[in-house]
Amino acid sequence: MLESRLAQLEASALKRIRAALTAEELEAARVEALGRKGALAQASKEMGKLAPEERAAAGKRLNAAKQALETAFEARQAEFAEQALQARLDAEWLDLTLPAPGVRPGSLHPLTQIQSEIEDLFVSMGFVVLDGPEVETEFNNFDALNIPSDHPARDMQDTFWLKDGHLLRTHTSPVQVRGMRRLGPPLRMIAPGRVFRNEEVDASHEHTFYQLEGMMVDREVSIAHMLYFMKTLLAGIFKRDVTVRLRPGYFPFVEPGFELDIQCLICGGGGCPVCKQGGWVELLPCGLVQPNVLRLSGIDPEEWNGFAFGLGLTRLVMMRYAIDDIRLLQSGDLRFLKQF
Ligand code: DAH
Repeated sequence: MLESRLAQLEASALKRIRAALTAEELEAARVEALGRKGALAQASKEMGKLAPEERAAAGKRLNAAKQALETAFEARQAEFAEQALQARLDAEWLDLTLPAPGVRPGSLHPLTQIQSEIEDLFVSMGFVVLDGPEVETEFNNFDALNIPSDHPARDMQDTFWLKDGHLLRTHTSPVQVRGMRRLGPPLRMIAPGRVFRNEEVDASHEHTFYQLEGMMVDREVSIAHMLYFMKTLLAGIFKRDVTVRLRPGYFPFVEPGFELDIQCLICGGGGCPVCKQGGWVELLPCGLVQPNVLRLSGIDPEEWNGFAFGLGLTRLVMMRYAIDDIRLLQSGDLRFLKQF
């Protein structure tokens, strides 16, 4: 009897639909009952064989079954959608009451900071800031600074030589040479930059470090002028009284040449590893420009003279922040860098 078979069919399909645990199971149940070749479609074909008076009742029954199954199917589908939404909401749940991670802005490297402070200071006194290449000629790095190839001073600076005869500049002094040639006298310039020495690395030596070169060329420049600028420089950097002393120092490009030392800011002069127990730190070699150096850059030493200095920027940063290991500066270690 078709009608009772329809009732059975409906009951078992409803069961399957309600019990479906996944979208695939549900779809399989739907296809089996309601699909084009499903059980209901099959039954509807058989209706043609029925007598007309039976056909109406069976048709009604068929439609009722179809309706019931479709409703059940949609209900189960809605449940799945609801579950999926709930799962997604659970996964994406945010606790808006948690503290925010906070803004963590970067900061300038302490060397960059000190460099721009010194640049500002000198610019305010009429100096220009010059740049020079890190790969230099032998002539600019040595010869033009009154250091000919047989000069013992070449051994003072262990040089990285390149295969083509160029070198990594051992100091920022070659920028003096470039400045004099390019701008001529009168000249007030500084040149901060990276320099290289072929040295054994330890707590106070690096193969790569920073200097700031300064030079003034004018008429009748004296040691008093030089000292004025050096003292202004130190007052600007340390923003407190720094005890200094001047010793004779030898550099082929200045005469007379000096070593300007400052009393160690880490130990106050009592002696510590940074000042090698001496209480003083060599900070600022300087002097009056050797006439040969002017002449080699096309400046007449009868008419012009000047002073020059070479500030160890790296050492200065170490003094300022009481850093006792030079290697920290280029370590890239965030624990170190975050302190500035
Ligand atoms: N260029 C020298 C060095 O690196 C430092 C220096 C000394 C620079 C005396 C100067 C100066 O301008 O007058 O060892």
